Formats: sequence, C-alpha cells, structure tokens
Amino acid sequence: MRPWNFSAGPSVLPLEVLQQAAAEMTDWHGCGMSVMEMSHRGKQFMQIRDEAEADLRELLAVPDDFAVLFMQGGATAENAIIPLNLIGRNGSGKADYVLSGSWSGKSYKEAGRYGDIAVAASSGEAAVLDGAQQAPWTWFPAADSWRVRRDAAYLHLCSNETIGGVEFVDWPDMAALGAPDVPLVVDASSHILSRPVDFSRAGMVYAGAQKNAGPAGVTLVFIRRDLIGHALPICPTAFDYVNVAEAQSMFNTPPTYAIYVAGLVFKWLKKQGGVAAIERANIAKARTLYGYLDESSFYANPVHRPVRSRMNVPFILADESLNGAFLAEAEQAGLLQLKGHKSVGGMRASIYNALPLAGVQTLVDFMRDFEKRHG
Ligand SMILES: Cc1ncc(COP(=O)(O)O)c(C=O)c1O
Repeated sequence: MRPWNFSAGPSVLPLEVLQQAAAEMTDWHGCGMSVMEMSHRGKQFMQIRDEAEADLRELLAVPDDFAVLFMQGGATAENAIIPLNLIGRNGSGKADYVLSGSWSGKSYKEAGRYGDIAVAASSGEAAVLDGAQQAPWTWFPAADSWRVRRDAAYLHLCSNETIGGVEFVDWPDMAALGAPDVPLVVDASSHILSRPVDFSRAGMVYAGAQKNAGPAGVTLVFIRRDLIGHALPICPTAFDYVNVAEAQSMFNTPPTYAIYVAGLVFKWLKKQGGVAAIERANIAKARTLYGYLDESSFYANPVHRPVRSRMNVPFILADESLNGAFLAEAEQAGLLQLKGHKSVGGMRASIYNALPLAGVQTLVDFMRDFEKRHG
C-alpha cells in the first residue's frame, strides 16, 4: 500500500489517475504517441483539452458568461497578471485587497507594482472573537468590516490560506458592501474543486492546479467575459486574457501534460459523484481531524472555528521539543509530509480531495498513540 501523503502541494493525486497516466504514457489511446509528444494543435490534444474544459465546467457549474483559461506561471504569476489585466478596466488604477495570511499578502505586494493598491481589511492583528483571543492571521475579517473603494477596479481575497489554514467561503454581495461595480477576484488555489463555488458572487476565480486539480504547471482561471479586454499596454501578450481566451488557451504552447493529467483528475472526480459528493467526504475528513484536535490537550489548532480550513489543518504539539520525534515516527508509520510551513512551525495536514477518510483516520490513530506514549 502507498503511504498517506499530507503535502500542501504539489500533493497527493488519485492512484487511479496515476495508474491511467502510466498505462497511457507511451501510447495514448492507440495513436502511437505519448501525450507529451503530441502537437498541441493536433486532433488528439484538442480532444484532451476540450474534454478537460467541459468536465471542469460541469463539475463547478461554471456559468456560460465565464471563460475558462488554462494558463502557466501558477497563482504567483496571476498575482501580476490580474492587475495587468484588470486595474485599467475603469480608469481608476485602484484595487483593494483583503489580507488574511501569507498568500493574500503576496498577492497584495505584487499588485503594488501596478497601481494604487489599498488594504480593504486585515486579520494581521490579534482579535477577540466569540469570547476567545485569536492570534494574527488565525481569523478572517467579517465582510461588513471591509473598506472597499467604490471605484476600485476589483477586490481581491484568498479564500483558502494554505499556510494559516483559514478558509472563507461566504463571499459577499458587493452591492451590499456599497461597491456594486467592484468584481471580487478570488485566489482559490488550495480548495478549488473541494466544494461548490458561487460564481454569481465572483468576477474571477483562479487556482494553481497542484493541490486538488492535478500536477503543477497549469493554472485554472475562471473570468467573467466582460472583465476581459482591459489589459494595460505593458501586459505581456501571452498573459493578456483576450489573447488567451480567443485562442482557447492555445495562444502559445500550453502545459499539455499537466492539462491532460488535470483532465484525468476531473474524470475521476465525476466518478466520485462530483463536487457535492467530494464535499461530503471532505466534511467527514475535517470533522474527524478537528474533532480529535479539540478533544486532545496534547495538540491544538489555532484557527477561529467558523473559518477553519477543510483542506489545510495546521496543528501544534503542546511540547514543541517533540516535533522531530513526531515527524520521524509519522514517516515510519507511512504518514508523509506533515511538517508545518516554516513561517508558522508545528505540523500541517493537508487533506485534499485525493486523500481519503482512511488516511485521516490513520493519522488520528497515530496521533492518539503518539500522545499516549509521549503525553
Ligand atoms: C493559496 C495559494 N496561493 C498562491 C500560491 C502560489 O502558487 P504557485 O506556487 O503555483 O505560484 C499557493 C501555493 O501554495 C497557494 O497555496
């Protein structure tokens, strides 16, 4: 049996998908070529791309007025590509950012190179919520506290902070915030496809693939069509959404193999019953892990309960001197990549779609046993 892999990304892929990719490695569907060897403009790859887009649209119920783009450069490149494409859309040159942790912080910093960027809200201070003290970056600012400029070209947020383990899904109606013309732009890299997405609340959603959607190398971009066509003159032509959309993500050679494997993941997800079914599984997994963390005084998760991530679960050991032993013994027990991000320390279990409940159960059993022996 393979070990359980809790990596934050690149992360576990469904075994069936890896096996299918292996079986098709040298000869895709009898055409005598590997997917890696095909022209991206040939009929075989066009079929792979078209099916990937159709399956992705179906899985997330993407409305027709949204374009789906397969891009490169990861979410990090999008942090620049977004202002380059959107900040000029209404002539204000302004964009607002909600800061909720490392990733939204990076997005904000990058955007600062392209316009007048302001902080709409931040969880960078300690706060008292529900009667408890919350450390900086362990909570999410309530939407009614955001200060959004009416003429901002967009408002950016990260809906799942992979490092802090904070997930925010109650995307507000921007009209109710007094900014009806400001589209919401969401970095959903680390929880895309783990739950349904309310596209009616967003102007754009983007995600690197290497967590729930496939291997690293392709970035998924969902953008309302009326937001396309406003790029600044300095925007690289390969990153102008007009060019990418018009060429159906083939403006230049796309990451063909990554799109192919992502397409296999989409088919696997459909076989599991789609996003609603995988969401139920993700809820069960998260309950199992958080339930144990809350009952134990040996481990703790610091995140405000209503915004705890279903995908990334950071936790600390009460006695940090046991961190090394925990990681070594976990690896011996077949539980891989549990080390927390260096900026927060401790542990982190990423429990993406392809990591089943049995893996989470094995982790909890191991943690219980470790606590018994060391607690
Ligand atoms: C929420 C989030 N945004 C952005 C990124 C950066 O993605 P990439 O390394 O693909 O550019 C990550 C990577 O882990 C992430 O988790």
